[in-house]
Amino acid sequence: MIDVLLGLQWGDEGKGKIVDFLAPRYQVVARFQGGPNAGHTLEFDGLKHVLHQIPSGVFRPHTKNIIGNGVVLDPIVFRKEAESVIDKFGVDLHKNLYISKRAQLIMPTHRLLDAAYEQAKGENKIGSTLKGIGPTYSDKIARQGLRVGDVLSANFRDKYRRLVDRHLVILKQHNFIYFDLVALEKDFFDAVDYLKSYQLVESEYLINASLQNKETILAEGAQGSLLDVDFGSYPFVTSSTTMTSGACTGLGVAPRHIGEVYGIFKAYCTRVGSGPFPTELKEEIGDRLRRVGNEYGSTTGRPRRCGWLDLPALRYAVMLNGVTQLLMMKADVLNDFDEIKVCTHYRLPDGTETDQLPYDLCDVKVEPVYKTFSGWRTSLSRVHSFDDIPAPLASYVAFIEEATGLPITLISTGPDRVATLVRETAMSK
Ligand code: IMP
Repeated sequence: MIDVLLGLQWGDEGKGKIVDFLAPRYQVVARFQGGPNAGHTLEFDGLKHVLHQIPSGVFRPHTKNIIGNGVVLDPIVFRKEAESVIDKFGVDLHKNLYISKRAQLIMPTHRLLDAAYEQAKGENKIGSTLKGIGPTYSDKIARQGLRVGDVLSANFRDKYRRLVDRHLVILKQHNFIYFDLVALEKDFFDAVDYLKSYQLVESEYLINASLQNKETILAEGAQGSLLDVDFGSYPFVTSSTTMTSGACTGLGVAPRHIGEVYGIFKAYCTRVGSGPFPTELKEEIGDRLRRVGNEYGSTTGRPRRCGWLDLPALRYAVMLNGVTQLLMMKADVLNDFDEIKVCTHYRLPDGTETDQLPYDLCDVKVEPVYKTFSGWRTSLSRVHSFDDIPAPLASYVAFIEEATGLPITLISTGPDRVATLVRETAMSK
């Protein structure tokens, strides 16, 4: 079976920490969508590291890591990231990383197009990470993209040139003309040469062979369910399927092989970029969550918008992903709060209440209806067992379990690997 691990909110839930934590249980860790827009932060042995495209299993020596066909790969970012992982941690990346030949390549002009499109949107900009994600997926769907496997073909440069020429026409139409393409291309082709030194494979065969051999496999989602291109707050979304179903298409595995679906959520909510965020707190409490939770983007450094936990949104993500267990992150950020709120419903402009996510959340202003909990007002650093959590935290957990119909099997109480409380019996059923 292949287990899937996903963020249930707007990304940045702490997936990197959990994949790293779970990695010893898995022989294979695979990324299935997204690209360098992601930033998965891992902390262990006093070191902190952010991964963008490389799966979070690389720090465990016996784990095979796969960048699947659903990913968009920027060779320049990949090179930087790979060299840093090798130099800093001595990881044998050439041995334990496999890259799908079907993954799409992000070209320098994709990044430029991302910036040009955002600029043209003016006030309605999405707040893209400007890593070229949207334009690269657009070319994939338009059936004109470059794939990783193309780098091995003799006419790679011709294919590249044909697509760049099209991009340049669009950039000119947007009056986006101030860039040094020669320098960008030098970096790109150097990075492409570097990429060729890795194992570029038909990863769908690799992963299906692993399934056949009964190896344990973890699919690592990027971004979050509420940024999904179909079910997120469109158009303020990313350009890929961030849901469980994306693991099937993004790796080439049949739905019947999906096993556990780990849904990761923060004890509160954050969002980077534009778009609706019903429980956003713009004043003091939002600032406090940002400060205590160090809520700044790991890819772009942008301050994250912060707010209380949103249950209608969480339940929506649980439903669409077929989540089987919940993992609650950053509980420690709420340690000093006297009271903690949870949005249970939305009040619509006509005064009615709903616990469903309106399709037109971008146009309809909903008002959150909250239930208030008392805070636990104590540090969690000395709590070493799930059974010993303070009573107010236990009530908070029980309420979320009741509202979602799922067990919370893990609570994260700090960034380090060791700051993790696990309900082992429920987690490994
Ligand atoms: P893009 O994926 O770079 O095009 O950005 C689209 C939207 O998704 C923007 O609001 C980004 O801030 C957001 N986004 C993309 N990747 C991540 C992520 O890994 N974490 C959180 N937000 C993200």
